[in-house]
Amino acid sequence: MSTGDHTFTVAVAGASGYAGGELLRLLARHPNVEIGAITAHSNAGSRLGDIQPHLHSLRDRILEDTTAANLAGHDVVFLALPHGASAALAEQLPEDTLIIDAGADFRLEEPAQWEKFYQSEHAGTWPYGLPELPGAREALKNTNRIAVPGCYPTSAQLALAPGFAAGLLEPEDVVIVAASGTSGAGKALKPHLLGSEVMGGMSPYGVGGSHRHTPEIEQGLSRTAGEPVTISFTPTLAPMSRGILTTATARVKPGVDAQQLREAWEKMYDDEPYVHLLADGQWPHTKAVQGSNHAIVQLAFDEHAGRVIVVAAIDNLTKGTAGGAVQSMNIALGLAETSGLDMEGMAP
Ligand SMILES: NC(=O)c1ccc[n+]([C@@H]2O[C@H](COP(=O)([O-])OP(=O)(O)OC[C@H]3O[C@@H](n4cnc5c(N)ncnc54)[C@H](OP(=O)(O)O)[C@@H]3O)[C@@H](O)[C@H]2O)c1
Repeated sequence: MSTGDHTFTVAVAGASGYAGGELLRLLARHPNVEIGAITAHSNAGSRLGDIQPHLHSLRDRILEDTTAANLAGHDVVFLALPHGASAALAEQLPEDTLIIDAGADFRLEEPAQWEKFYQSEHAGTWPYGLPELPGAREALKNTNRIAVPGCYPTSAQLALAPGFAAGLLEPEDVVIVAASGTSGAGKALKPHLLGSEVMGGMSPYGVGGSHRHTPEIEQGLSRTAGEPVTISFTPTLAPMSRGILTTATARVKPGVDAQQLREAWEKMYDDEPYVHLLADGQWPHTKAVQGSNHAIVQLAFDEHAGRVIVVAAIDNLTKGTAGGAVQSMNIALGLAETSGLDMEGMAP
């Protein structure tokens, strides 16, 4: 049955934050959505226009408290909250509500990995909202619970999945270095994110395998490869508000050549609405995807090093969070996957 003419009521928890604001920016123009409750924590009671002044059509809406009672009664509830807060709320919401969590609570399969990286009790595992991965769309069609991937994991997996799906890459010695804009760290005030600290320079963080997205990227690439994949992941902070540029490299299996590599990426992405392998010689630029749900990817075979080098660019708040969440919602609700997501990039 097509649900293309149907209107679904949607609530957004964490509407005062960056991810919640981006969700509202996309949902406000979605043809099948009516925005119901919008909730916040310290900003509850405020007018949305005072907190998110770019959301013009919703400026007079009031942010309510983030409680299960305020979120209940909607077809869809988006949770854009600090990790830990979503699991506690989700268990109080009705079974038949489509819950889409932008946080990490339900992304990891292994409780031990969750406990190691998040130092709390594992809440469970929900279908993963990265539709381009093998088997993901089927899982999303049959669920009312979706775990939206982290922003780095979105770009890293989109960069490398075709090579692992085609069995062309060695599963060890995968190196991923990514630069993110500061909105990736959320809106809460932190000294290292002050303009004076960030402008005009770059710095690494979470070095040495300690970043929380490490197990998530390994989990996704291992699922795609059908064998355990080990990565070394280093994130860096770039002086921009939005965007991720990921450079991922992996050793290719003996005998694999440049043409086989290119064909694997073409095969996986040729029919995708939001992931594009660029023309030969053209390299991803974060501005080309800013504000859009598109991811752009390019690869090269470094024959001397025996490695494939893949560069991917996404907007961390769009394809990396809210856009991916809406794309997954569309699939789960039986809508056109691209509904409400036809924004172009915003360069320069
Ligand atoms: N930013 C990104 O690029 C990105 C990408 C992928 C995933 N995510 C995930 O999305 C979630 C939200 O991230 P964000 O960047 O939007 O963070 P943020 O800008 O700091 O926003 C956090 C939101 O959660 C609310 N909140 C804070 N503490 C709370 C609590 N104890 N209980 C309930 N609500 C609380 C805040 O409300 P008040 O402002 O009213 O206090 C705000 O609405 C996180 O889990 C993050 O990992 C973010």
